[in-house]
Amino acid sequence: MKIAIIGSGEVGQALAKGLVELGHKVMIGTRDTEKKELKWTKKVHHEILSVGSFAEAADFGEIAILAVTWHAAENVLNIIRPEVSGKIVIDLTNPLVFSEDGSPSLSVGHDMSAGEIVQQTLSDSHVVKTLNTINFRNMVNPKFKTAVPTMFMCGNNDSAKNHVRELLVQMGWVDIQDIGDIEKSRILEPLCLLWVEYGVANNTWNHAVSIITK
Ligand SMILES: NC(=O)c1ccc[n+]([C@@H]2O[C@H](COP(=O)([O-])OP(=O)(O)OC[C@H]3O[C@@H](n4cnc5c(N)ncnc54)[C@H](OP(=O)(O)O)[C@@H]3O)[C@@H](O)[C@H]2O)c1
Repeated sequence: MKIAIIGSGEVGQALAKGLVELGHKVMIGTRDTEKKELKWTKKVHHEILSVGSFAEAADFGEIAILAVTWHAAENVLNIIRPEVSGKIVIDLTNPLVFSEDGSPSLSVGHDMSAGEIVQQTLSDSHVVKTLNTINFRNMVNPKFKTAVPTMFMCGNNDSAKNHVRELLVQMGWVDIQDIGDIEKSRILEPLCLLWVEYGVANNTWNHAVSIITK
């Protein structure tokens, strides 16, 4: 599948590597195609992994993954909107803000969420919120010694969620839970806060959420 990754931070690069290893063709979208952090991409055949503008990547992908910092999202969404019309867009952003003492909070929440804003802005696309509660290193091949990690997703379009589920399975996820429409992002985004607080308290970023049943 041709996959656009909108954003070239740690998440965008990790997903690009992982998805290429799974046999997908990937284009990373960025403001600066020559940035030094992306030099490694030149070692991969251009047909398999390429780098372009946000719009070029969105045009390339049959499916797009939004992986930009939240404060830039509005601007980036307006750039990619025409190119992702009719396509599935995976939103893994978290609208995180940190206070002076380092405490995390959300810039939107309770009665609104980043996922809903992404869906409202990309009104002709099928937005699926997922992958926002896991570190970039564990998004692909999420193997943990103590339990099977759970990945939640939500979105308004069942067919889009089925496609995203297939992709998550390819990426190694086993316990994938569809929790409803995109409004459920109001639950998923605060879950990231819990994940961050656990990481700070236990000095680890190698942890995941797991729901267990008896
Ligand atoms: N880090 C994690 O483990 C993790 C886990 C789950 C979810 N997330 C979420 O995933 C998203 C990406 O996280 P990240 O850690 O990879 O990187 P990040 O540093 O939060 O974001 C990097 C990306 O944002 C873009 N960006 C930054 N400022 C911009 C601006 N003013 N205009 C346009 N684009 C701008 C960068 O563009 P350029 O390519 O042009 O530099 C880059 O592509 C975030 O929303 C984060 O909350 C992160």
